[in-house]
Amino acid sequence: MPKRKIKQKSDTDIHRVTTSGDIEVSTYLEIAKEMGGEQPVVAEETVPVPERESIVVIDFGSQYSLLIARRIRECQVYCELVSYDTPWEKIAPLNPKGFILSGGPASVYQSGAPLAPAYIYENHVPVLGICYGMQVITQQLGGQVEPGSKQEYGHSILHLSGTESLLFEGLEDSLPVWMSHGDRIEEMPPGFVSLAYTENSPIAVMGNNDGIYGIQFHPEVVHTPQGKTILENFAYRVCGCRGNWTIGSFINDSISGIKKRVGKGKVINALSGGVDSAVVATLIHRAIGDQLTCIFVDHGLHRREEVERTSRVFKENLGMQIIYVDAADRFLDRLKGVVDPEVKRKVIGEEFIEVFEEEANKIGRVDFLAQGTLYPDVIESAASGSTASAKIKTHHNVGGLPARMRLSLIEPLRYLFKDEVRKVGLELGMPEEMVWRQPFPGPGLAIRIIGDVTGEKLEILRSADFIVMNEIKKANLYHHLWQTFAVLTDVKSVGVMGDFRTYGYLIAIRAVTSEDAMTADWARLPYDLLARISNRIVNEVSGVNRVVYDITSKPPSTIEWE
Ligand code: XMP
Repeated sequence: MPKRKIKQKSDTDIHRVTTSGDIEVSTYLEIAKEMGGEQPVVAEETVPVPERESIVVIDFGSQYSLLIARRIRECQVYCELVSYDTPWEKIAPLNPKGFILSGGPASVYQSGAPLAPAYIYENHVPVLGICYGMQVITQQLGGQVEPGSKQEYGHSILHLSGTESLLFEGLEDSLPVWMSHGDRIEEMPPGFVSLAYTENSPIAVMGNNDGIYGIQFHPEVVHTPQGKTILENFAYRVCGCRGNWTIGSFINDSISGIKKRVGKGKVINALSGGVDSAVVATLIHRAIGDQLTCIFVDHGLHRREEVERTSRVFKENLGMQIIYVDAADRFLDRLKGVVDPEVKRKVIGEEFIEVFEEEANKIGRVDFLAQGTLYPDVIESAASGSTASAKIKTHHNVGGLPARMRLSLIEPLRYLFKDEVRKVGLELGMPEEMVWRQPFPGPGLAIRIIGDVTGEKLEILRSADFIVMNEIKKANLYHHLWQTFAVLTDVKSVGVMGDFRTYGYLIAIRAVTSEDAMTADWARLPYDLLARISNRIVNEVSGVNRVVYDITSKPPSTIEWE
């Protein structure tokens, strides 16, 4: 595995990257409580795993570690990712039926290289070492790892040696695989046999009779097309899992878990219009009905029709108790003359907390605050030692709620990936349009208006943005794009309409593809579509006479303009 580069401070560090579209809203509340002198009460809930069976991935720092966990869950087996130094007491409740040792950037023969804890080998459950994980097994069980004369990176062909192996059951004798390593196995530990080789790795797969396997390639990446079958074979045939991790079972178990935890208590939830807070609300409502109150703070920075749509879905379709607060004027007032993007975020965060607190106080006693935290956020916080709130706090420095609001956090999605959250939403009967909504930033249109935010500019941007969304949806591209939006720049330029010279605003269109918002590429939208969007905007939105398309990727740009 090539050594990982030390990350330089860059825009990607400065701008948050969260998987949860609406983490910002809930994080404001969490920060507020901390600053009010009260530490947030850490959620006690454990993941509801029916009859507790899981596979645990031991993380040695590979960029693909989380992907392994996702792939295993796709096999309907519950899977968690934990650091290699996690004590057994934390693992035991998961009842692991097998372990996977991930790849990683280190070399096992160097001093201080991370190794697997003793319980991995003492538990007599199967172990699959991937890349660095295979080298860890080799080193710890008495074999030898050495620097390879050639690095092997990219596509390779794996040839099975003919020895029967559960891991490769149902597969051809030769498979395309994805390699990424510098070190290689020189000598296998006692009791192991070689099961497959590639041109550059005489021992590309090894195994013993105790169900311990090492594979030099990465089965979790799409470039290993049969990788999913190999992981499935490991989970089902080697570890004997039954595959009881389903969305239906998650919902049932979550509902009973929430009922038990909340008892007769009251829960509040800040709705943002995003997927995660919406799914959280729906799940909790299913469990405790009207003991849940949702507060939807309308900061006046939403897209056109967004507020109405969210309120309608929650009230009418899902029958929830919602307090809708029209606070648009308050936010606009506070934003007057604010130009700096980070100050905009801070102002919006502070105002949000004030409004939320006022409304929450009207409800009377409340015991729990629901949040839409997702698993990658949990993992990231654990790895960096910082919570989402710490990250945003340094970034936004928002003010706090008084300590009298004593709330425990309830985070029913903290063990789910985003795609699982969407499946939960669909299974709970939420409308597709809400479940598949593109991410939208907490501070909304305020960070898509360059310079100060005014009511007039908001209207111009809303109109232009509405056209962009409308055309993107008509072209059936909405679901293929990570985000699509309009930006109102502070540039004015000269134009001509009919016999008149105009001096109007410049609108920029941004459409990006991305997997996780860490990196993004500008979407190659068809020219005809861009032409339609441009024509419609200059014809239908007064005050705008020029449209440009943003053709920069992230990095070096960010997705948002502010
Ligand atoms: P950037 O602009 O950093 O955005 O490439 C990455 C992702 O984060 C979203 N974003 C935000 N979300 N509050 C949020 O809730 C914010 O202040 C914020 N800034 C950016 C952005 O829309 C993209 O999905």
